[in-house]
Amino acid sequence: MCGIICYCGHKQVVPILIEGLKRLEYRGYDSAGFAVVDNKEAGAGPQSMNGGETNSPQLKNLRKKTRISPDSGKKNKIVKTQGRVGRLEKKKIGLEIDATFGIAHTRWATHGKPSEINAHPQGDCSGKIAVVHNGIIENYQELKKELQEKGHKFKSDTDTEVIPHLIEEYFDGDLEVAVLKAVERLHGTFGIAVIHADVEHQIIIVKRGSPIIIGVGKDEYYAASDSNALAPFTNRMIYLSDDEMAVLNTSGYYIKNLRNELLEKQIEILDADEYRVDKKGFEHYMLKEIFEQPESVKNAFRGRLIENEGVSKLGGLEPVIDRLKNIKKLIIVSCGTSYYAGLLGRYIFENLTELDVETALASEFRYRRLKLDENVAVLAISQSGETADTLAAVKEAKRKGALLLGIVNSVGTGIAQITDAGVYNHAGPEIGVASTKIYTSQLVIQTLIALMIGRYQHISFIEGSEIINAITKLPEQIEEILANSKEIEEIALKYSRYRDFLYIGRLYNYPTAMEGALKLKEISYIHAEGYPAGEMKHGPISLIDEDFPTVAIAPDDLALDKMISNMQEIKARNGKILSITNVTAHKVLDISDDVIYVPGTLPILQPILNIVPLQLFAYYIANERGCDIDKPRNLAKSVTVE
Ligand code: G6P
Repeated sequence: MCGIICYCGHKQVVPILIEGLKRLEYRGYDSAGFAVVDNKEAGAGPQSMNGGETNSPQLKNLRKKTRISPDSGKKNKIVKTQGRVGRLEKKKIGLEIDATFGIAHTRWATHGKPSEINAHPQGDCSGKIAVVHNGIIENYQELKKELQEKGHKFKSDTDTEVIPHLIEEYFDGDLEVAVLKAVERLHGTFGIAVIHADVEHQIIIVKRGSPIIIGVGKDEYYAASDSNALAPFTNRMIYLSDDEMAVLNTSGYYIKNLRNELLEKQIEILDADEYRVDKKGFEHYMLKEIFEQPESVKNAFRGRLIENEGVSKLGGLEPVIDRLKNIKKLIIVSCGTSYYAGLLGRYIFENLTELDVETALASEFRYRRLKLDENVAVLAISQSGETADTLAAVKEAKRKGALLLGIVNSVGTGIAQITDAGVYNHAGPEIGVASTKIYTSQLVIQTLIALMIGRYQHISFIEGSEIINAITKLPEQIEEILANSKEIEEIALKYSRYRDFLYIGRLYNYPTAMEGALKLKEISYIHAEGYPAGEMKHGPISLIDEDFPTVAIAPDDLALDKMISNMQEIKARNGKILSITNVTAHKVLDISDDVIYVPGTLPILQPILNIVPLQLFAYYIANERGCDIDKPRNLAKSVTVE
């Protein structure tokens, strides 16, 4: 949610910031802006004074702490726009900026509506300090009042604007000290980047709660809210932890904690292929990501199956395997699509293990009086690894002593850092705001974890082998569904003008119904309710008529006969039915107006196949309605506010 990109080096900064913002735009896209110090600006320029030398090996080339004379005469150049990065790019044409360091931001509004004034960077009264910020400052109202009483003039409705004014208040020639003092006053979560027009070539970054990554180039340094944005520039990254500060300039960088003590942090080398972002000829990222599922599903199980033992092996869980064997209860916490993956995870773990399993919405988890101890494992599922609610739930579970596990796609992010052990999806970046390939990957990985635990319990070698066999067939079965995409598109077009949909399923496909409905509403803005089919008679059936179609997920499993009864109840009320099924028998066909066939697999794996046509169905309807599929209104890819 909101994206930050910063650069400090010897190249022209504006094109780098724009390129970075484009790659971050999926995080938030209602306004954008950047702040730089233009070399052409009138002014005496800063005067450096040495200080802060250290002997850390990380600081080889550095280290001069820059102090400056109070006023060089320079001011920041801040360029902002409401709307997309494309508009910002147009706006900077003709400005002829000559600058080699700067900070930039793309916003998802929290405090203050989307507008140019509320866009970041936000500045102070002098025009010298500029700040970009992800997260929320919870005590901004009291800080704003205090600063206004001291004469500071505010222009925006944002919580962020208190930060530059606070820094201005504390600034007496040492930007680092001023930032440290200001941060001490802030409550909430933040990833911030700060520049000062008089402190040339210095960017100060601070992280608490919202992710910030430092990119290390050759005599040039970057910071960004995720590694996707840095991928075109460098593969050498440092993941900041909470309450850490990085100071970047052209001769190097150093990292400190907020007690002003220097830290040594490891540089991680990222696999460039994992971070390659392009549409590969598809019209939208979402469509590309749907079509990537044979590969992403394969990546979820590649190297993780031991076929001759009928078991899975997950290197990331090895360090905690003994604890895991003694766990009695598993609580899966997550949000959005990852929550629906967890909802299905409950059925998977209940089926394959002897664990007592519960699925919890991360945003509700911390309000509950749950008994969490060393016999409980909490499994956080998150594509981004930075969803604020999920992170908060994990922190709560940590306090109470539970074993913390994660399934995360984005390497090195907050949730991956805080958990005791975990499994990466290795699915590559997911850019479309509506999650697709990560959902199916999350289902595969949960099955692998359940199989691993289950094989220490009651699951036999034969059962384990059957599951492995079925998992390895999934990629080609998904290919089969994708090969049918034209037919699915034709069906979708028939349904594209309805205003409401009901999605129903039972057992393993109750979560499929929820996720299918979520896909449709996220990207097409059509009202769609996902419901467990058995609950339909307790309410939603009152909505059914000839203008309110139902998508019924009705595969061949223990619940099929009951599903058919529910579908008959819909037919009796003139409701149209589109069925997703692997059953060719008349009992499904005769009561369906349209049918999308999927190949058959084990019932616990069937949802991995059933969701694929529903993703395509939503996509084609949204496309037909001319919706902005990769950047649906009001949504953001990674939600770093609670
Ligand atoms: C946002 C995204 C969803 C995602 C959810 C949870 O709402 O738009 O696609 O499922 O966050 O995100 P996570 O990164 O934790 O899986």
